[in-house]
Amino acid sequence: MNKKETISSTFGRNIKVTIFGGSHEEKIGCIIEGLPEGAKNFDGERLQQFLDLRAPGNSPFATKRKEPDKFEVESEDPLTLIIRNTNQRSGDYKKLTDIPRPGHADFTARIRYGDDINMAGGGPFSGRMTAPLCIAGGIALQALEKEGIKIGAHLLQVGEVQDRMFNPMAPEIENLGNSVDKNLAVIDADCEEAMASAILAAKDEGDSLGGIVEVAATGIPPGIGGAMYDGLESILAPIYFGIPAVKGIEFGLGFESTKIKGSKNNDSFDIMHGNIITKTNHAGGILGGVTTGMPLIARVAFKPTPSIAKEQQSVNLRTMEREPLTITGRHDPCVAVRAVPVVVAATAIGLLDAWQERIQR
Ligand SMILES: Cc1cc2nc3c(=O)[nH]c(=O)nc-3n(C[C@H](O)[C@H](O)[C@H](O)COP(=O)(O)O)c2cc1C
Repeated sequence: MNKKETISSTFGRNIKVTIFGGSHEEKIGCIIEGLPEGAKNFDGERLQQFLDLRAPGNSPFATKRKEPDKFEVESEDPLTLIIRNTNQRSGDYKKLTDIPRPGHADFTARIRYGDDINMAGGGPFSGRMTAPLCIAGGIALQALEKEGIKIGAHLLQVGEVQDRMFNPMAPEIENLGNSVDKNLAVIDADCEEAMASAILAAKDEGDSLGGIVEVAATGIPPGIGGAMYDGLESILAPIYFGIPAVKGIEFGLGFESTKIKGSKNNDSFDIMHGNIITKTNHAGGILGGVTTGMPLIARVAFKPTPSIAKEQQSVNLRTMEREPLTITGRHDPCVAVRAVPVVVAATAIGLLDAWQERIQR
């Protein structure tokens, strides 16, 4: 592979989002195709506010890298939005060219794309690639809002510390991580301190933590999605798994549903003001890949940040000798913290993609 080649990947069927660039290239960005006309007139100020939720800022729970993430419209047709990379310290990554970080993509990227791939800052595998995902997601979010659909997410778990789960019948999506002032997006303010201490303790030990982001969407009418690979779960799963460090996804009761009987798991149907509803929402708003009209509930699991300060064993790929590795540089101690708006963005893009099919019929 030529070093100058930019790696890109595309999500979607109706709305196509192509994300390109790398952490230490001149820019990163996204091309968005198939947007409904109205969605192209997005509010730039609100989009920037949404991007600011992902940017590390001065949070003690985020990397010290300065990533202001100011978006620019590079082209109207196709709609291309970019962020210029400004705060690279490629020196931090020099030795990783030959000595791959355990848990990161250094080794597999080199095998897949060749020795010339620019993996500084994690290259196209970097968490930074979620900034353009948030650009596309922020635009999708505004389009869905016009249809009465709202999305919110919170940090359900950090290490062993848990927040309260969403009420699946009426998820508390307002005022959740929607403010840049709030460091951790939680429902139950009482767990915030324990989460914060757990992250800072792991960081002090030169280690990292994983976590779970729970997302909910309200206002989705019944009938969005389709059978098998057209199902909403099938549409959302690849966009969630495209987020670096995602290792698991569940919808509704998810893995917990395996422990209860069908009689308890099934959501009984009922009627309210002439509409069909369900009395519980274990399905997380989806049956057979099609929305029921109840809130969509999903959980996305993030592994602990791979780049840790503790010494680890690796192999020098040039000398083929075992070598100890101590990673320097500025890393997120728990990627799930900054992934909250990313999961919202991914959900918005997937939902808008499925929504388009409905109105095209
Ligand atoms: C918002 C966000 C920020 C991240 N920040 C870092 C980081 O600072 N250091 C790091 O090693 N990994 C970070 N990651 C995770 C890596 O990019 C990811 O683990 C790596 O590409 C390997 O991919 P995999 O974990 O999906 O297998 C971040 C991920 C996200 C979503």
